[in-house]
Amino acid sequence: MLSFNEYKDLINSHLTDLIADPGEEAAVLADAMRYSLEVGGKRLRPVLLLASCDFAGGEIMEALPYALSLEYIHTYSLIHDDLPAMDNDDLRRGKPTSHKVFGEAMAILAGDALLSTAAETVTGAPLAFAGIPVKMAAHIRAAHEIMSRAGATGMIAGQTADIRGESLEPDADLIRYIELHKTADLITAPVRAGLMLAEADDDMLSAFTTYALDIGVAFQILDDILDIEGDQALMGKTLGKDAEQGKCNYAYVHGIDAAKEELHRLTAEAKDALSPYGDKASFFMSLADSLEIRNH
Ligand code: IPE
Ligand code: IPE
Ligand code: MG
Ligand code: MG
Ligand code: MG
Repeated sequence: MLSFNEYKDLINSHLTDLIADPGEEAAVLADAMRYSLEVGGKRLRPVLLLASCDFAGGEIMEALPYALSLEYIHTYSLIHDDLPAMDNDDLRRGKPTSHKVFGEAMAILAGDALLSTAAETVTGAPLAFAGIPVKMAAHIRAAHEIMSRAGATGMIAGQTADIRGESLEPDADLIRYIELHKTADLITAPVRAGLMLAEADDDMLSAFTTYALDIGVAFQILDDILDIEGDQALMGKTLGKDAEQGKCNYAYVHGIDAAKEELHRLTAEAKDALSPYGDKASFFMSLADSLEIRNH
């Protein structure tokens, strides 16, 4: 296994390789796609994909296109999340949001194109290995895992409930639905897809699914806490907006102390799920710990 930063460097060094050149007439599209990808980001989701595949004995270069596709989907979700019609944010990853730089129409199109590029990437990945025998069923399972958790029963369902939630009385079930779908699905997809590419067994898939859903929900709870008490310069996005917009933010609804307790409980449960793997799973154990205390 490599370190988090080694996986991240590998991702960053290939991040825009698959952004196509649409020609002079539409060059601004590629500029807008590159802008949002290159301004930064933790790269948590693609790192999880490479690390899971590596953990289960798979080939990280075979997994790389899938990892990139996760960052394309995540980045598109942020561009659209920031649009005036959604959360209306001016700042993302420490820089002006896509629609502030390129205008709303281009921000919508850049998001659309990043999602399409992700679909092209996951369906093209096995072809890139032409000549080398690939485990075709494993590739198809991984591609389906990613695109379905990004879609209408996954991240988009969560974003829908998040927007709907602005005009509803927040309740615990709605908040959990939002966390599970808008955030945990895009954290679970890379973990499961990485394992699927490595043809991991069902026990491993099941343990890591619990882990990923737990750190995914915890990730959103801390995002909600940081919206209240985070440092804007470190976070690189405008804070304090969830209350203003009536969002179903866990920490506003249940209180900061209860949010921190739930964050801790989920982190412990996530690590517990991997206990059968002992020290071999230390990458994922330490990652869960560092995500619990992140400040950005
Ligand atoms: C932000 O995700 C959106 C949420 C799900 C809370 P990240 O905090 O991973 O954003 P980047 O990729 O580091 O910018
Ligand atoms: C975003 O949730 C989840 C996405 C699918 C993008 P938030 O709206 O809380 O994310 P931030 O706080 O804007 O990063
Ligand atoms: Mg949002
Ligand atoms: Mg937002
Ligand atoms: Mg937020």
